[in-house]
Amino acid sequence: MEKCKEMTLKLRVLFCCTLACAFAFAAGQGENNPVPATSASDVPHLRKQGSATQLIVDGKPFLALAGELHNNSATSLEYMKPLWPKIVESKLNTVLTGVSWAQIEPQEGKFDFSVLDGVIRDAHSHNLRLVLLWFATWKNGLSSYPPDWVKRDFERFPRAQMFGDNTSWPVFGAPRTPVTGSLSIELLSPLGDATRDADARAFAAMMRHIKAVDGREHTVIGIQVENETGMQGDTRDRSPLANKAFAGPVPKELTDYLQQHKDSLIPELRTVWEAAGFKTSGTWQEVFGKSRPTDEIFMAWHFARYINRVVEAGKEEYPIPMFTNCPQIGFGTEPAPLRGGGQSGGAMPDAMDVWRAGGPRIDFFAADIYSSDFKGFCARYNQSGNPLFIAETGGGPDLKGLALYAFGRHDAISFSPFGIDSMVGRDPDVFGYDLVSQLAPLILKHQGDGTMSAVLMGPDDPPQKIAVGNYTLYVGPQRLRRPAAGGTPAPQPTAQPSSAAIFIAAGPDDYFVAGNGLSITFSPNTPGLPLAGLATVEDGRFVDGRWVPGRRLAGDDDAQGQSITLREMGIQHFTLYRYR
Ligand code: DGJ
Repeated sequence: MEKCKEMTLKLRVLFCCTLACAFAFAAGQGENNPVPATSASDVPHLRKQGSATQLIVDGKPFLALAGELHNNSATSLEYMKPLWPKIVESKLNTVLTGVSWAQIEPQEGKFDFSVLDGVIRDAHSHNLRLVLLWFATWKNGLSSYPPDWVKRDFERFPRAQMFGDNTSWPVFGAPRTPVTGSLSIELLSPLGDATRDADARAFAAMMRHIKAVDGREHTVIGIQVENETGMQGDTRDRSPLANKAFAGPVPKELTDYLQQHKDSLIPELRTVWEAAGFKTSGTWQEVFGKSRPTDEIFMAWHFARYINRVVEAGKEEYPIPMFTNCPQIGFGTEPAPLRGGGQSGGAMPDAMDVWRAGGPRIDFFAADIYSSDFKGFCARYNQSGNPLFIAETGGGPDLKGLALYAFGRHDAISFSPFGIDSMVGRDPDVFGYDLVSQLAPLILKHQGDGTMSAVLMGPDDPPQKIAVGNYTLYVGPQRLRRPAAGGTPAPQPTAQPSSAAIFIAAGPDDYFVAGNGLSITFSPNTPGLPLAGLATVEDGRFVDGRWVPGRRLAGDDDAQGQSITLREMGIQHFTLYRYR
């Protein structure tokens, strides 16, 4: 009995100490910072809301107003020190940053997480979240981030090989002369099981560590596994290991997937499979044909299997959202054979089904959009249930519009310009996040329910018609060009769009719109009185999620009641009425 009492007392003391320590730790970490310490069980995860996929952080949907650092910025805490306040000033809530395998596992099995710990601590103390980029086996279609002990042991960790025309594609250290046969390159083969297992072990160790140091605060809200995985230099790995697999049968998991999803496959993949006769077994060339996409599908399958194992190992330790990214090429669209820049086998939209079949544990495929066809690539990534997560974009002067478009039109989880080190600290609103963060609660509320949309337009684009809520919106550049005498000039595609707006129907006749350079008229699209007029129009701001009206607008500011007129980037709230 006495023993039992003593045990109860000991347990109580232990419980109180644990709690006290947890609070002390949370208080110490969060002194200047409102990120709440939450239950360890409520780890960041994905959740569907209507047709959208949302990222849930601390139990609430989260819009990542993000930016990606240059590749190696966060390998030095000193380098990062002056950047954190500038990032906060630019109103980012999330930073995407690389973690180098070489840095955390300098010797096999010996881990050093000190820099990563500092990055997590400093991000947290600036009230920022992190999406970590696991720079491990692959980075931009090559392998520059594995530790030296991996790079040096080319027997245990086999290289990919390319066909030996080395004269136009630089293979570091190789003679600049045509080589007979295949040439090893600085790319670890996705068919190397030992490499995969070493990467998976390191990744699992990192995720275990992140859970231990950040499992309550959730500073780290997601992981990109590898970076722009793919093969540079050739369309497929020509190593003996890969050649053997290429001559063998397409794995049954892939052919089963193709058959089960035949009617909903991404069209580009379906076309390749169809052209080869929809075969359900055979070698790679028998099932997909003797053309370049077959090499790309073969590589995609092997990259996906490999990364799936790494993700699986990480999720066993700490299952936060994990994804992979890719530059936005399509099957066979790069100059063939690939030379300097093009890649084969990445998780691009055309290959997403292959990646899904081979990598079911990967949560989604993120977009790196550097193309001037920003709208096209948003749509290509946001198809067949893949949420839009922009991990990188260039964007230039139109960044503000691109962000509005991605969030408003495609329910994006994240928008993230690349190389923010050199962008923050000048114009504090360089990304337009002041406005997006005001709108964020409204955007999150309306994601996936059909009451929100957006446009992105060049000055010569024709007006667009778009249904939002109970009205159809007609949106055109604010100063529509007059047709040239004698006919309408054909719209010229512009290199970068220059006007954007997001539209949210907050009620049956009640709208918020934010954007620039556009004018908008309306007509009802539900039964009732046939004409629509503008009732109250006002500009203003959201403060802590509450709308605070500024000026009441009429006359010149709403074209004498004929249209909503957005000049400079800003928010307007208006109500409509109907008449006949
Ligand atoms: C895309 C890569 O994913 C980034 O890591 C970086 O290398 C940029 N390209 C550079 O433009």
